[in-house]
Amino acid sequence: MNLPIQEFHYKNGELFAEDIPVRELARRFGTPLYVYSRSHLRRQYHMLKSALQSINPDMYFAVKSNSNLAVINVLANEGAGADVVSGGELFRARCAGVKPSKIVFAGVGKTSEEISYALEEDIRFFTVESEPELERISQHAEELGRVGRIAIRVNPDVDPKTHRFTSTGKSENKFGVDLGRAEKAYEKAARLPNLEICGLHMHLGSPIMSVQPYAEALEKVRPLCLELKKKYPSFRHLDLGGGMGIPYSADQQYLDPRDFAMAVLPSLNGLDMSIGLEPGRFIAGNAGILVSRVQYVKDNPFKKFIIVDAAMNDLIRPALYEAHHEIVPVRETGETVFGDVVGPVCESGDFLAVDRDLPAVVQGDLLAVLSAGAYAFVMASNYNSRGRAAEVMIDNGQSHVVRERESREDLVRGESIPEWTKG
Ligand code: LLP
Repeated sequence: MNLPIQEFHYKNGELFAEDIPVRELARRFGTPLYVYSRSHLRRQYHMLKSALQSINPDMYFAVKSNSNLAVINVLANEGAGADVVSGGELFRARCAGVKPSKIVFAGVGKTSEEISYALEEDIRFFTVESEPELERISQHAEELGRVGRIAIRVNPDVDPKTHRFTSTGKSENKFGVDLGRAEKAYEKAARLPNLEICGLHMHLGSPIMSVQPYAEALEKVRPLCLELKKKYPSFRHLDLGGGMGIPYSADQQYLDPRDFAMAVLPSLNGLDMSIGLEPGRFIAGNAGILVSRVQYVKDNPFKKFIIVDAAMNDLIRPALYEAHHEIVPVRETGETVFGDVVGPVCESGDFLAVDRDLPAVVQGDLLAVLSAGAYAFVMASNYNSRGRAAEVMIDNGQSHVVRERESREDLVRGESIPEWTKG
């Protein structure tokens, strides 16, 4: 195995998910198939929590990274809260058993309906991304006779050195309130009825492979935090967001949580605030694989294409960010061929790997795409009217379908043809 993931490993040349042969899972549940390891989720969660003991953060799992109810539930049972970014994610977190007092709600475009829903649920706090949003939360809180607890998301203008589509903490990004305007925004919050200022939030981007951007951002927001603490007694929580990087290939490593703690501690000293973290990928990223069956091997004069039954609609990261995912054989081949792994979607951007040494597979063989636990199924679509894949969770020799494969009927559900177009 080219990645350090102990739950997915080879035994006698065969890929196992924990103690179950992946071939067996593909036979029982079909392909393309997402497989999640419950032990991996729990291990990553506890590893992070214990490595960060010195800052003892409240953990809000970033539901956007993997919003399957079973995944959220596994983490909720371990004590995690949830970071949500829509009414839909809030609903999922609640269905999965996360207490409202452990849910935080971010996002630049919260609608009135979403805000009212969150106020009625009495979530821990809103991560507020603009001044007009403060007004909207206050207005609905007043109408509903509730208090909207808020942490303003401050944009510290720090480069997280990640893909431009997933960088969020620079001043040209749409997220948060500019550091220079933040104090004014807090003053406004203090003037508005039915709001309680409970803290400050920042999230720089994802994935972040070095601790330096976190340290730099904290250094920048620390004076503001000290100021706000003096002014508002309820200002007590500092949420550092998510973004901690994971290995996608053999030459990469997890962002070390102990280094993270060492890097942020100097700026937290003397602040006396509780800390929040919103890890998604760090917990779920390497907890999942995407299993796919080879449909055809096509030898063009210029290139070899391994055509599989998973496509960009199942895993869009390679197409969208040119992201690298390791692709390994379910039965080791020993030999490699040079070429692309592509799906059946009618776009040249439909690839899972480009110009790589790949396992020398033949029609009918199985391949596993690694690091497919975060931002994978959640970004799947029905493009080309392809039903979304099934998701299975495994633990201790057991497997459970945590989301059924979509059927043809699922694809047309909710659609209807007007009488007046019928011939
Ligand atoms: N908190 C906030 C406010 C966020 O926006 C995000 C991710 C997180 C936490 C969790 O970040 P994580 O710990 O999972 O890195 N689709 C992209 C990633 C988009 C991330 C969006 N926000 C990808 O596939 O790489």
